[in-house]
Amino acid sequence: MPQGIPEEIIDEIRQRTDLVGLIGEYLKLERRGKNMVGLCPFHTEKTPSFTVSPEKQLFHCFGCGASGNVFSLVMQMEKLTFPEAARFLARRSGVTIPEPKTGSPAEDNLKEKIYKLNFLASRFYAYCLCKTDSGKTALEYLQKRGIEQKIIELFMLGYAPADWTGFFNFARKKGISADLLVKAGLVSPGREKGYYDRFRNRVMFPIFNISGKVAGFGGRALEEGEKSGPKYLNSPETPVYEKSSLLYGLNLAREEIRREKKAVIMEGYTDVITAFQAGIKNVVASMGTALTVEQGRLLRFQAETVITAYDSDSAGEAATWRGLAILQSTGCLVQVADLPEGSDPDSYIRENGADSFIDLVNNSRPLMEYRLQQLKKRFDLASDKGRIKYVEELMPFLLSAVNQVEQDFYLRKAAEELGVDEDALRRELKKRRKRGSRFQDAQKNEQPEREEKIMIGSAEKMLLSLMFQSKEIAEIGRNHLRIEYIDDPRIRKVIEALWNSVAVESFVSTEKLLNQFEDPQIINLITEAVSDPALQDLPAQTTKRMVKDCISRLHHIWGKKEQRELDKRRKEREASGSEEDINELLREQQQLIADKDGWPDRSGKGGDFSG
Ligand code: UTP
Ligand code: MN
Repeated sequence: MPQGIPEEIIDEIRQRTDLVGLIGEYLKLERRGKNMVGLCPFHTEKTPSFTVSPEKQLFHCFGCGASGNVFSLVMQMEKLTFPEAARFLARRSGVTIPEPKTGSPAEDNLKEKIYKLNFLASRFYAYCLCKTDSGKTALEYLQKRGIEQKIIELFMLGYAPADWTGFFNFARKKGISADLLVKAGLVSPGREKGYYDRFRNRVMFPIFNISGKVAGFGGRALEEGEKSGPKYLNSPETPVYEKSSLLYGLNLAREEIRREKKAVIMEGYTDVITAFQAGIKNVVASMGTALTVEQGRLLRFQAETVITAYDSDSAGEAATWRGLAILQSTGCLVQVADLPEGSDPDSYIRENGADSFIDLVNNSRPLMEYRLQQLKKRFDLASDKGRIKYVEELMPFLLSAVNQVEQDFYLRKAAEELGVDEDALRRELKKRRKRGSRFQDAQKNEQPEREEKIMIGSAEKMLLSLMFQSKEIAEIGRNHLRIEYIDDPRIRKVIEALWNSVAVESFVSTEKLLNQFEDPQIINLITEAVSDPALQDLPAQTTKRMVKDCISRLHHIWGKKEQRELDKRRKEREASGSEEDINELLREQQQLIADKDGWPDRSGKGGDFSG
């Protein structure tokens, strides 16, 4: 559910916003039958394939697949997150949104308190850095690194004093409870008694969330060495600091990222700060860990292309690759900028200047191409051993391609490098795909299905479109279609959601359904189904006959599949010679044949239409 905004309010905004009027503010629409069409704002085209259904309040582009409702339109046009789009439309339609509630009131309250406390802490640290003697060394350190005063202020850098209770005492005097200080991760309880500051003698980097609230801190030791602990000490996970869903600098970089439709991801705090100071402002940091789906989502609506500028040593690590594949799977085009050995964006910009760094970014290459090149560097393709190793490592890369076209393209490239037949590589890939499917399934649990395109058969597609047309048709579907007839679990989910909704609503509310799903592939599936122009405006009798045909066809396909399965099992059992089992299977098979051409009825009240 959309974060923090009650469903009634979302409904109200939706009801008060007319999609046709809203789209009219962006482009010209013409009527075509029940629908309106225009030139798609999301891709370049000469003939209109951007279709809007005034009745369903949905849009779908048959050219590029962009689709959705009033909210998705604003998200994509204005590059906003869902809550932001909701606020945008609320303002436009005069709906008041109550203060956001994400959890229980107590939980929200705690979050707000921590944000406030974090802000107070950032002011305290900033004061210590710039206005106290104890902060002098830290300030000099930053100056030595070439960080200017106005950038120190922009990023609200600070200094945590070395004594054990500097911040604790300050906060207590302000009336803040020790309990809250601990919950915010700023203070720890002492082993025996009392409390002590978590951050001591460190340069402090407040970490902001996307809307600019201080979610946590990174503190850099002034000296590196065992005695001073880790180089960077970060806030522990707190109700507002979840490292995996934050990107350092995004609050500041966001506008520029939207403008350029491009984001550069770096690893460290100082990389972002230096880039920013040099005028490169579409930059964020992943803070040294592999990227996550949440981070990918944060970028997805802001940037079309994400370029990674990682330190050269981590660019080769498996975790990095995995993170980049995740990023790609959330829908960003990922490119890799190649930094010379031993440098990070911070040191590179200082040594070579901003223009040179921008060149590196402009010369970045698609993830897959970069990987292929790295492989080529690592193995000696003149030796058999090298070639075998190359293929060994190549296969998982190819399997992670975003689509068939990309996979084919790089497979051909690799075949060329190796001087082998493409088909040989293709066969090898096929073998791996089979073998690897267990491993991939395991991975899929972590990474949702969004990576894989939904494969939908023509009968399924037509049935889905028809069922979305009315409650009556959806109910015919519910009474006659067995969900097992549908292969793809995502299509099943959509159908089940539709059936559940018509069971309680008096009409098909596509928009409400859409809001149950986040997977762009599923959203696309729904909007495509409801917008199919070929199925609009048909006489009711025709529609019913078509539904019947679709279900019969799916039933037939399923029956054949079951038949094959039973045959296989029979053969296996015949081989092992258990007669009882065989008889049972034969009975099942006869049953299957008996209702193979029949019209499946699950309602228990007989057929409910004549056509
Ligand atoms: P780096 O070790 O590359 O540091 O870690 P850096 O950003 O170049 O910092 P400087 O230039 O030496 O000051 C990259 C990022 O990994 C995280 C931090 O977010 C850091 O910016 N990190 C690193 C930690 O969280 N803890 C550590 O101990 C080290
Ligand atoms: Mn560095």
